[in-house]
Amino acid sequence: MPRTPLIAANWKMNTTLAEAKELARNVVGFIADVTGVDKVLCPPFISIGAVAKAAAGTSVMVGAQNMYFEEQGSFTGEVSALMLKDLCRYVILGHSERRSFFRETDEAVARKALVAQVNGIQPIICVGETAHERQSDRAVGVVAAQVRQGISRISFDPGMVVAYEPVWAVGSGLPASPEIANEMCGLIRKELGAKFGSENAEAVRILYGGSVTSKNIGDFVSRRQIDGALVGGASLQAEEFAAIVRNTASAARAV
Ligand code: 13P
Repeated sequence: MPRTPLIAANWKMNTTLAEAKELARNVVGFIADVTGVDKVLCPPFISIGAVAKAAAGTSVMVGAQNMYFEEQGSFTGEVSALMLKDLCRYVILGHSERRSFFRETDEAVARKALVAQVNGIQPIICVGETAHERQSDRAVGVVAAQVRQGISRISFDPGMVVAYEPVWAVGSGLPASPEIANEMCGLIRKELGAKFGSENAEAVRILYGGSVTSKNIGDFVSRRQIDGALVGGASLQAEEFAAIVRNTASAARAV
């Protein structure tokens, strides 16, 4: 079975509630009728309800950018899977910004992935090496270890997603080459195969993220191992994000 491409928008810490509503309305208007691509919007927590409302009854799905690994209790400021499960189909976990600014560990990612899965939310587990790790030939080892540990507690579910986001390509305007991205996504699939079996690994969507635009998306999604993208900056412009979704649909139809 061919994998349906998936394009996810990571709005990061951008948009007020009013801006999120407007962006969601515009994006949904532009992409809801695009077929052959799964589309996910991940707004800040505070706007998830409004974005879910804007997307309700359409083909556009909603995700969160993070969550805590406990389901409820005295964890001031945190948001749990129980709170997200009615609104979100996906949750981004272990984004490089969370790993670097908030000291998120692979063990925390593994715990969060399990709680997401138990609550019917599909994890989008982010992995990726820094520039220094790539320069010192450690990219493969670092990413393989992040995948192994990130998936250590979950069981196989074909709906789970992994995103390869090299830290040096995130927000830099300098995307990875499609060759490197494809090779790293292949490595990720191999790691998934080692735990879940290679046939199961073939069903999992692996995304590329890092300076994706409507101009370069076709070069990524036409590669064998790359099943879509996690889009940051370009997802804040409705027309540009819609063009990324449309170009993914046409690239997928061309293979
Ligand atoms: P940019 O698309 O802005 O490089 O961000 C990528 C990213 O971090 C998506 O999660």
